Amino acid sequence: MKITLAFDVYGTLIDTNGVVAALQKLINDAEKFSQTWRDKQLEYSFRRGLMQNYENFAVCTGQALDYTCAFHKVTLSDKQKAELLAIYRVLPAFSEVQEGLTKLKAAGFRLYAFSNGKADALEMLLSNAGIRDLFLGVVSVDDIKTFKPSPGTYCHFLRKAGATGCSAWLISSNPFDVIGAISAGMKSAWVRRSPEAIFDPWGIDPTITVSNLLELAARISE
Ligand code: LAC
Repeated sequence: MKITLAFDVYGTLIDTNGVVAALQKLINDAEKFSQTWRDKQLEYSFRRGLMQNYENFAVCTGQALDYTCAFHKVTLSDKQKAELLAIYRVLPAFSEVQEGLTKLKAAGFRLYAFSNGKADALEMLLSNAGIRDLFLGVVSVDDIKTFKPSPGTYCHFLRKAGATGCSAWLISSNPFDVIGAISAGMKSAWVRRSPEAIFDPWGIDPTITVSNLLELAARISE
C-alpha cells in the first residue's frame, strides 16, 4: 500500500514570518507582533473548536490581528490591516519545500496538503508558492467546520485521501498537530524548524523528528 503524507500548511510548508518584512515598515518590534498574531490565531481556532462556534481560519486570523494591535498598542488603519491580511494570502514557502516535496513525490509517496485554512485560500497560497501541482489534493477542515487538533479533522482527512491511519503520516511543525494526529491513529513527523522549538511534554512523541523536508525525504524513504 502506498504511503500517504498529509502536510500541514501554515508554519510547515508556508513561512508565516513572511509577514515580518511588511510589519517592519509599520511597527517597531515586528517579530514580537508577528509571534503574538500567530499565537492568537491558533488560540482563536482552538477556542472556536471547543465552543463549537466555527468561523473560518481567515476570520480567526483577522480577529487575532485586531487583538494583537490592541495588545502591542499599535494603531493600524483598516487599509493597513487589509494589506497585512492580503500578504497572509500570498506568503512564501520555506526555501527547501519545493525540492523536498519533489523528492518525496518521486519516491512514490501520495502527497496532500491538509490545513485549518479554507480550500480556496489554500489553493491560492500553494499556487502562489509554486507547489500546488506537487499535491494530489488539498483537504480543508472547513468541510466539517472545526479545527485541528479535533480528532474528526484527521478522520476527515483519511476519508478524503482514501487512506488509513496506519498508512498515513501527518507532517507538521506544530506540536499540537503532531500530537493530535498520533492520538487519532496516524503516524507523524515533527518538522522542528527552529532549535528553540519545544515539543509538548505530554508523553506522546513524534514518530520521527526532522529539521526540514529534505531530511524528511532522506529519512522516511529509508
Ligand atoms: C494549518 C495550521 C495549523 O495549516 O498551521 O492547519
